[in-house]
Amino acid sequence: MTSPRTIVITGGSSGIGLAAARRFAAQGDEVVLIGRHPQRLAKAVERVREAGGRTPRSYRADFAVLDEVRALGERLNADLDRIDVLANNAGALVPLTRRTADGLDLTMQVNHLAGFLLTHLVLDLLRAGAPARVITTASLAEAWGWLDVDRPGASPLRFRSRWLAYGASKQANILFTVEAARRWGGDGIAATSFFPGLVQSRFGRTSVLFTIARVIPGLIRSTAGGADTLVWLADGEEGLMSGGYFAYRSPFPATPRSTDPDRAARLWEASLAAVGLPSTDSTSS
Ligand SMILES: NC(=O)c1ccc[n+]([C@@H]2O[C@H](COP(=O)([O-])OP(=O)(O)OC[C@H]3O[C@@H](n4cnc5c(N)ncnc54)[C@H](OP(=O)(O)O)[C@@H]3O)[C@@H](O)[C@H]2O)c1
Repeated sequence: MTSPRTIVITGGSSGIGLAAARRFAAQGDEVVLIGRHPQRLAKAVERVREAGGRTPRSYRADFAVLDEVRALGERLNADLDRIDVLANNAGALVPLTRRTADGLDLTMQVNHLAGFLLTHLVLDLLRAGAPARVITTASLAEAWGWLDVDRPGASPLRFRSRWLAYGASKQANILFTVEAARRWGGDGIAATSFFPGLVQSRFGRTSVLFTIARVIPGLIRSTAGGADTLVWLADGEEGLMSGGYFAYRSPFPATPRSTDPDRAARLWEASLAAVGLPSTDSTSS
């Protein structure tokens, strides 16, 4: 490697994103941390500095507010000259009833639409970093996602459970990857998504399901273990399996409704509308 790669990680202030950031920093990459909570972000900066010896750039943005994502995009474009890897990793299990100030389902906005918007806003930086990679943290929960691909930001109450809403957002992560690979492959941008395993992080702290899972020996991985496939996808051979979904360093099966190219293309158009980006036809970006 001639110069350090620039690796931007959303959800870099905690858990899987922070563990991945420390790995990248330790191997000499230039890490850029995105987080929401100021104190957690400041602590994460310190932990990445300990791992790599350099103080990483860091940016605060709440993905529940699209204007904050737009401001983040502007700052990244002003401060960076390229992005080699964008890890769309921020995500959460949130109360079902919440709609955002943008009028969208909170789960879908934080876990899919905000990252979708950010990726578009930094597309020229990714093109400048080509061959570049966009890696999205998805989940096994996609299996129970029942996503209306034509209305991704619609009323959260239609899900009846926050886990169903979460599953739908993780299905959106995989569909985004399928379509991003198709649209941006020609620009030298590969897209992959992955399931990190069940990970001991701040995720799901209010969930009884997760509290039970945490005490079952051997079920839950460390954050470093959860970050392993992300790092593997970032470091592996160029062009490897763009559009694919992975876990434990291998291709991983997803439900057909998470990988269907027609659903992926429809979700893309509906997501553009939801975040206020202009529509495209299905053959161009
Ligand atoms: N843990 C698991 O078992 C598991 C399993 C499958 C998939 N995942 C996925 O893995 C990803 C990382 O989660 P994790 O396990 O590392 O959990 P975590 O420790 O809770 O980290 C989540 C990260 O996302 C950020 N985030 C959450 N809401 C945000 C918002 N509104 N705006 C901006 N950033 C926000 C958090 O920022 P702050 O800390 O600054 O608030 C934090 O950096 C998520 O996409 C999650 O869905 C986790």
